[in-house]
Amino acid sequence: MRRALVVGNWKMNGTRDSVRQLLADLKAGLDVGKPVDVAVCAPFVFIPEVAEQLKGSAIAVGSQNVADQKSGAFTGEISPAMLVEFGVRYAIVGHSERRAVYGETDALVAARYAQAIEGGVIPILCVGETLEQRESGDTFKVVKEQLDAVLDKAGVQSLGKAVIAYAPVWAIGTGKTATSQQAQEVHEFIRGEIRKRDAAVAEKVQILYGGSVKADNAAELFAMADIDGGLIGGASLDPKAFLTICHAVG
Ligand code: PGA
Repeated sequence: MRRALVVGNWKMNGTRDSVRQLLADLKAGLDVGKPVDVAVCAPFVFIPEVAEQLKGSAIAVGSQNVADQKSGAFTGEISPAMLVEFGVRYAIVGHSERRAVYGETDALVAARYAQAIEGGVIPILCVGETLEQRESGDTFKVVKEQLDAVLDKAGVQSLGKAVIAYAPVWAIGTGKTATSQQAQEVHEFIRGEIRKRDAAVAEKVQILYGGSVKADNAAELFAMADIDGGLIGGASLDPKAFLTICHAVG
């Protein structure tokens, strides 16, 4: 049995005050008896305070990206070692907003992923197709390319220390959720691709769904056989909605 994981991705939102309030509400409201791990991926500058406030709680800290290099002259990047020093457990890599808005390629995403693994941070590897790619029947092809780029570089065993998130671009921030069947179909495909490389790894790896997960659709998505939790954008900024999503597991 795979344990469920729900990850909030705050993106570029929040103030010191709003973050403090949000975390206080999450800590107070989280039912730790539920079979779910919870994490929040904060903007880099908030991470020290977030880690401090979450110390001793059941909520883990994540970042929204991580460097593809260990250290050195890489202006603007944050290394895995720096994240580890501040208590970060997870780092999102290859989010579609990084790929589309900031031009991150499959190769760069694979390098970030490999560096995270090496540095002791669990990468949450995002894959997913655009609307155009879905409509032209290329969903599996695109997802496979994104996945292969990472597995060819880091090896399938690396997934023992990683999480995958299927986050179709057309469903992110649009209010359009993939139906639970649409999502399950791609999750099953991803697990099948991994199974071709290593069956035991495929059974264990958590595959999250991301894309307009809300309080009222989370339970149906999480009930699908290959959906092991969610990557939650917009709704992770609302403590009530995020908690409902966390509790929709199991
Ligand atoms: P959303 O974001 O929940 O706001 O659609 C999801 C994501 O970024 O993966």
